[in-house]
Amino acid sequence: MRIDILTVLPELLAGPLDHSIVGRARKAGLVEVNVIPLRNYTHDRWRTVDDYAYGPDAGMVLKPEPIFEAVEALQAEGAYDEVIYTSPDGELLTQPLTNALSLKGRLLILCGHYKGVDHRVREHLVTREVSIGDYVLSGGELAAAVMVDAITRLIPGAIGDETSALTDSFQDGLLAPPAYTRPANFRGWGVPEVLVSGNFPVIAQWQHEQALERTKRLRPELYKRYERGECDT
Ligand code: ADE
Repeated sequence: MRIDILTVLPELLAGPLDHSIVGRARKAGLVEVNVIPLRNYTHDRWRTVDDYAYGPDAGMVLKPEPIFEAVEALQAEGAYDEVIYTSPDGELLTQPLTNALSLKGRLLILCGHYKGVDHRVREHLVTREVSIGDYVLSGGELAAAVMVDAITRLIPGAIGDETSALTDSFQDGLLAPPAYTRPANFRGWGVPEVLVSGNFPVIAQWQHEQALERTKRLRPELYKRYERGECDT
């Protein structure tokens, strides 16, 4: 899988993409992630990527020319399955959407910035708009990093324990059960007896009950969807 990220702030993406699961998956060749500076597609001496918004509102808008030039040049190397624009207006990033994106071969993520991009980019270039939550970030770079992380962990081989991505919270529409490790007694606080029993079917049943109880208590709206069988991961 290949994910290209087009941004005016490539520096913001260096840390999150170079370490841990994403960093290792990139080194292992499981996913190719390219951070592409939008300024590479400007032609003036100031490498201008933005301009004042038309109308009375203050703020800068990313210009259409460098974005179209960049995306068209990259598309010439191979078509994208999706050209994603990060925006608080977009469809909420959920586990089902993440799962669907992880099955694609080639994605482009265009990071919004300042007051956003010229709307013609959204109308004529972008195929999908994605938000990571109902709050406003200063730019789309952190949202892009979140998306790449959530997608990469689903790629077979990216996580050491093959099954662990499947037992993540949300993967079956429920929150994950509590996890414990050694020592079995820490400051007088023990580990649930069942977990040290070695009886795997009983442990699985306990974990499922815990997942149900936690989801019902902490995320009642998620639990209702689960009960109605609306979880479409
Ligand atoms: N850009 C600014 N806020 C955002 C959000 N919540 N999700 C995705 N991109 C954004």
